Amino acid sequence: TRTQVGIIGAGPAGLMLSHLLHLAGIDSVILESRSRRAIEETIRAGVLEQSTVDLMVETGVGDRLKREGFLHHGFEFRFEGHGHRIDLAALTGGRSITVYAQHEVLKDLIQARLDAGADIRFDMRDVALHDVATSPRITFTDRDGRAGELACELVGGCDGSYGVSRPAIPHESRRDYLRIYPFGWFGILAEAPPSSDELIYARHERGFALISTRSQEVQRMYFQCDPSDNVDNWSEDRIWDELQTRTEGDGFRLKEGRIFQKNIVPMRSFVCEPMQYGRLFIAGDAAHTVPPTGAKGLNLAVADIFVLARAMERYLKSGADDGLQSYSATALRRIWRAQHFSWWMTSMLHRFEEATEFDRRRQLAELDLVTSSEAAARTVAENYVGLPLT
Ligand code: FAD
Ligand code: DHB
Repeated sequence: TRTQVGIIGAGPAGLMLSHLLHLAGIDSVILESRSRRAIEETIRAGVLEQSTVDLMVETGVGDRLKREGFLHHGFEFRFEGHGHRIDLAALTGGRSITVYAQHEVLKDLIQARLDAGADIRFDMRDVALHDVATSPRITFTDRDGRAGELACELVGGCDGSYGVSRPAIPHESRRDYLRIYPFGWFGILAEAPPSSDELIYARHERGFALISTRSQEVQRMYFQCDPSDNVDNWSEDRIWDELQTRTEGDGFRLKEGRIFQKNIVPMRSFVCEPMQYGRLFIAGDAAHTVPPTGAKGLNLAVADIFVLARAMERYLKSGADDGLQSYSATALRRIWRAQHFSWWMTSMLHRFEEATEFDRRRQLAELDLVTSSEAAARTVAENYVGLPLT
């Protein structure tokens, strides 16, 4: 088979790339190792930046998001027993965020692509890249064990942190930047009504906690944990005690309920530069990872694709490769801004085992700054709602 753009991975990056290319009249084929069902059921991120929402709405995949997503005009920082609201809309000239789960975004994108006749191949094994510097080919084994090959003009490497695309860039042609944090996030989904109208980012001596939501009936919460801990060490009671303690103050109590999903994610900051090798272009988690504290992972993947789709369109329609040549540098500017913000939010809110008493007081002074200086609060708000797409 031959296609214009071969895409590896049906996550937010790969699906959005295929969608935007289709709107520009360009063919693509997506090769995905997991099943459609696994993709549509994996619980991950939940916060969409204003520009992610706008792009989905403008390109015809935002109807359900508009109906079922929750628009949030602010969030709360909680520390030393008190809540402090960050008024996102007032500080950013009316921008805000929408809480809508990543797997719901994926369901909407997959449905739109299939309705438009897209070729998405789920359950593919042994996906491998060849000759990406000259005329790329992708080989794979399909679900019946048959070997297949896809020839393409360009490749979108959208296969996440552990895919095959980034390793296809030779070591001597790239540089990796990595920071590993000595903690992880324990995430839960609980059957309970919302405890708060807005998200709560809490700093406590016992560690960070985050109160988010999914619907009137289902709540999403996280707390800082040992990344090597096991979810089975945590009973419902123990989880609720920990979350209650870390969010206490001002008479606040979380509304508890049955916990039906638990997972632990490690935390790291990672960037691979450049995000190109020959005709291979990597995007999203294939090229970078942020710790989840800034809610940037999914949004950054979409922002990469916004730049990449236009550059691919220009090249495939006119032969001009200036957009492709500048893709990496253009995307990396936003990526490093998001890296800084995610690292900053993480450092301001988490408990660091090696921190001295001075470090703890400095951390509180920083939270005092961002919740009492309008200029500092605006810096947080602008970064949290996300920069406009460029
Ligand atoms: P992915 O969503 O990872 O998609 C990559 C796709 O490629 C996957 O479907 C995968 O199956 C497929 N693939 C992988 N290898 C191959 C291969 N060899 N061949 C074919 N297909 C392949 N961000 C937040 O902001 N907040 C959160 O709470 C949050 N929680 C997260 C929890 C987890 C467990 C993880 C892993 C990430 C989380 N993130 C979170 C980050 C966010 O989900 C990612 O940034 C986002 O999914 C990036 O999208 P992507 O399309 O680049 O990659
Ligand atoms: C959610 C995840 C995040 O990483 C975050 O910063 C805020 C909310 C969520 O899953 O709802």
